[in-house]
Amino acid sequence: MRLFISGASGLLGGNLSYLASQAGHDVLAGFNEHPLHIAGCRGIGLDLVKGDLSPVISFKPHCIIHCAALTSVDICETNRALAWQVNVGATSRVAECARRASSRLIFISTDSVFDGKKAYHKEGERTVALNYYAKTKIEAERIVGRHKNHAVVRTNFYGFNIQQKHSFAEWLYAKLSAGDKTPAFTDFYFSPILANNLSDALLELAQNEFCGTLHVAGKGRMSKYEFAQLFAELFSFDSALLVPTKMSELGSLKAVRPSDCSLDVSKAERLLRTPLLGIRAGLELFKRLHEQGYRERLRGR
Ligand SMILES: NC(=O)c1ccc[n+]([C@@H]2O[C@H](COP(=O)([O-])OP(=O)(O)OC[C@H]3O[C@@H](n4cnc5c(N)ncnc54)[C@H](OP(=O)(O)O)[C@@H]3O)[C@@H](O)[C@H]2O)c1
Repeated sequence: MRLFISGASGLLGGNLSYLASQAGHDVLAGFNEHPLHIAGCRGIGLDLVKGDLSPVISFKPHCIIHCAALTSVDICETNRALAWQVNVGATSRVAECARRASSRLIFISTDSVFDGKKAYHKEGERTVALNYYAKTKIEAERIVGRHKNHAVVRTNFYGFNIQQKHSFAEWLYAKLSAGDKTPAFTDFYFSPILANNLSDALLELAQNEFCGTLHVAGKGRMSKYEFAQLFAELFSFDSALLVPTKMSELGSLKAVRPSDCSLDVSKAERLLRTPLLGIRAGLELFKRLHEQGYRERLRGR
């Protein structure tokens, strides 16, 4: 299958591009400010806000998986024009590109599109934007929803970053292995999935005919503090280093966050053969991949 994956220098796009090429797909991997070589992929530098998208159309992808976004919730809050350009404007251009190339379009949305007042949000629930990031993602979902062959995937993930920067789990590893006190939220709940498990589900979704919105996340629900405790337990770190913290206690957050972003994944479980791992099983796989040098392979070392 020919795949165009945007945001290939990002956490999800990097893993997805690498795993897709390992699975034998023909991958065109899109970057913007951080060009990278990903084993087996053809890379293309492309600013999706204003660049020429004709090379993507000429590639005639069977499926476009649009992972690129401005993902910092706080930067979206303070730089709204940029957030709109990247998350809405670029998504609209990618959707037009998919239309012209007759490609299936999978859009990566977020678990932050709800008010967060209850657990295990379902696909059909009313969306609510508590912050500007959510507003841009909801608008982008609406744009993608007009494409006749689309899937909107809402999720939350962790994993190994292809760039020299830390995802949440890698940050936990760095802090706890250095013996540093580590704050973790007790009042933020989510359903995190390992990017590798999510990538497998996305590659399956790229090849089926589902059209609509799907929650693809870890099976279960935890606070970030509970996730960090489980992480410490599996890696045999001292869990006393974890400092239970409320979101309001961290003065640096600019945007309001929903407090419960957990997702009901039962629809995805009925649709997909790829098992969606429970949160503990996902973290156990993260640990095995860490021990097997997966991150070094991902980074081409
Ligand atoms: N991380 C999470 O847990 C989470 C949770 C829910 C939803 N999501 C969604 O999942 C998707 C992937 O997130 P992520 O965490 O993997 O992202 P990330 O690591 O922050 O990377 C963002 C990617 O977007 C690219 N990008 C930004 N502006 C661009 C532009 N103008 N033109 C082309 N590419 C551009 C970046 O390219 P360069 O670095 O090369 O500039 C980078 O590859 C996003 O849609 C995000 O909203 C993420």
